[in-house]
Amino acid sequence: MDRYAVIGNPIAHSKSPRIHAFYAAQTAQALSYEALLGPIGGFADCVDAFRAAGGRGMNVTVPFKLDAYAYATRLTARAEAAGAVNTLAFTGDEVLGDNTDGAGILQDITVNLGCPVASKRVLLLGAGGAARGTLLPLLDARPASVFIANRTAAKAADLRALAERFGQPGSNITLQAGGLAELAGQQFDVVINATSASLSDAAPDLPAGLYAPGALAYDMMYGKGDTPFMQAARAQGAARLSDGLGMLVEQAAESFALWRGVRPDTAPVLAELRAALQG
Ligand code: ATR
Repeated sequence: MDRYAVIGNPIAHSKSPRIHAFYAAQTAQALSYEALLGPIGGFADCVDAFRAAGGRGMNVTVPFKLDAYAYATRLTARAEAAGAVNTLAFTGDEVLGDNTDGAGILQDITVNLGCPVASKRVLLLGAGGAARGTLLPLLDARPASVFIANRTAAKAADLRALAERFGQPGSNITLQAGGLAELAGQQFDVVINATSASLSDAAPDLPAGLYAPGALAYDMMYGKGDTPFMQAARAQGAARLSDGLGMLVEQAAESFALWRGVRPDTAPVLAELRAALQG
């Protein structure tokens, strides 16, 4: 049986084994998928051992996405743009590094939530790895504009420079960057929270009036109920709210499709995880 795994530290609470077991059963693929606790400083040895034991691919989570980027012998364009790898595929001596996080969020927003991004005004909050991973798939969706805003404005400017480098020549996407206070007076149709603020039970400090009529507020994080960002967005008049549970199942589906050449239906596993989270 083909072996796959997710590697992270910590890893005990990862939902990936459950999601991939579900996809394997649904698509009748004979594979196993386990969770590996990667030792800090010992990522490469751990992956070497997994490959030697017949491993075909891995998902990579915190804190190893940069190690996985370095470990890959070949990178997809979106992994290159993200500067991080969350999916590895092993074929002989070749290690393909991909990043499916950005495709996952775009799929969740545009398909699952039925919220087109094309020609819309998008606000991307944050300038760390999560924001960077979203950039290329977001630009590929051809929004009218993307404003990258970050608590530390200089980092937002760096990310805009990167977007300019990776953006398609001739595309008319307006790119802006700045600190959070510089958002005052602007309006957006889609606001994506790619900061880690929710981890410390906080929300980015945003000026009022950002949400255009019908706007979607999307948090990459998820938890039992609404995240602090979603609560703040509701109070500020966002018409639609979503957490990042759909992004999780979509990035997994994208990895699964890369490995197995078949795309699973994400709706049943999303419904099951949602019910478990609320129960
Ligand atoms: P990740 O890989 O999850 O993106 P990261 O690279 O550490 O993590 O980046 C965290 C991001 O969340 C940064 O953009 C950070 O803003 P700063 O660059 O100013 O540090 C942002 N962030 C974290 N906590 C925040 C908060 N309470 N309010 C606003 N932004 C916050």
